[in-house]
Amino acid sequence: WIELNDNDVSGEPTACRVCGGPVRRCLDLGRQPVSNAFLLPEQIADEAFFRLEVGICTRCTLVQQLDVVAHERMFRPDYPYRSSTSARLRRHFADVARTLHTTELTGPDDLVVEVGSNDGIMLRTLSDAGVRHLGVDPCVGAGDTAAQGGVRIRIDYFNERSAAEIRRTDGPAKVIFSANTISHIADLGSVFGGVDALLTADGVFVFEDRYLADIIAHTTFDQIYDEHVYLLAVRSVSEVAAVFGFELIDAQRLGVHGGSMRYTVARAGARPRTARVDQLIGEERALGLGDPATFAGFGARLDVIGKDLVALLTELRSAGMRVAGYGATSKSATVTNYCGIGTDLVPVIYDTTPEKQGRLTPGAHIPVESAARFTDPYPDYALLFAWNHAEEIIEREREFRDRGGRWILYVPDVHLL
Ligand code: TYD
Ligand code: ZN
Repeated sequence: WIELNDNDVSGEPTACRVCGGPVRRCLDLGRQPVSNAFLLPEQIADEAFFRLEVGICTRCTLVQQLDVVAHERMFRPDYPYRSSTSARLRRHFADVARTLHTTELTGPDDLVVEVGSNDGIMLRTLSDAGVRHLGVDPCVGAGDTAAQGGVRIRIDYFNERSAAEIRRTDGPAKVIFSANTISHIADLGSVFGGVDALLTADGVFVFEDRYLADIIAHTTFDQIYDEHVYLLAVRSVSEVAAVFGFELIDAQRLGVHGGSMRYTVARAGARPRTARVDQLIGEERALGLGDPATFAGFGARLDVIGKDLVALLTELRSAGMRVAGYGATSKSATVTNYCGIGTDLVPVIYDTTPEKQGRLTPGAHIPVESAARFTDPYPDYALLFAWNHAEEIIEREREFRDRGGRWILYVPDVHLL
């Protein structure tokens, strides 16, 4: 295997990737693989690992990984994640598209550019409505699916270079949208540089991401993995935007992915700032989100979850119970590798994504099989790694419980459903 960093920064403060302020180390999730690098057996020997550690900038409060995995290793042409596997997400992004269409993309020729458009889950709706659009995503497989759905795609990373080219060929964008991608990009200067090159004078940069306050409140430590270089919050996004000459003008809480936030950013002074922004920043201060001590409590809670989960799985397996995982999520990489859960405790994970099936999960090397095989025969217990889709999955697989099966959930604590 390959070690991606020999990151020994013990005791040494590192500098914030955005403001240069001192970063306090607050969480160590150990040796972790690239979370979406599902493997063929012959690839095990070359598997790459890195040390997953999180710190907080004591100046701008940006929560960030101390060392990051290179983009090219994470977002490869065969990147297997597909947004459209979830019906709830399909509804969510159709709503996003309709809202952008009625509030911002009101001119006949307005252009929208999406950063990290994946399989076209959001742009599909705007394309159908005849809106000028372009999706930018480095992952060919997902991009092909988007293109088949009628979405215009540029296979590329979004940065100053690609943004300037898009401006030359397509003109400025009224809206730049992104979901669950901005936190993946370590060089936020390149993101805002790209936005600066491409956005109209009065346009908006709207992005959604998992919300730090929800991660802390529900101890969803599995939201921390290689791709989530930043765990964003209203205060930190507001600070980051200001560093690059922009302003956070609105923020709105969302239920998806276990709790997210939609940030609306404009050029500084271009649009009025809603009262909601300062209200949320006040709430975050009351929660201690900018305080390194908050993470000590979080770390202690996640250790309890990890121990409880391993104890339960060990007990079930020694009682001869059949246990399976459900949802080969990126999140499951953190859980299995942090807790040391391998095939002895969870012999298989079922998942609907064809690109993941027939492969082994990163680090833990648990085989992924088609979700269609979940029924044949049902396990006694199913560990729900895709807990953010719990409602949808438990409803679809209701026969599992009808026949006496039980779901195991591990957030906000280990419990059975
Ligand atoms: P998700 O939780 O959205 O993402 P992440 O990788 O960011 O943690 O991933 C959901 C995974 O679960 C994905 O691999 C598809 C799978 N899945 C199912 O197998 N069945 C389902 O009904 C749904 C909604 C998802
Ligand atoms: Zn900072």
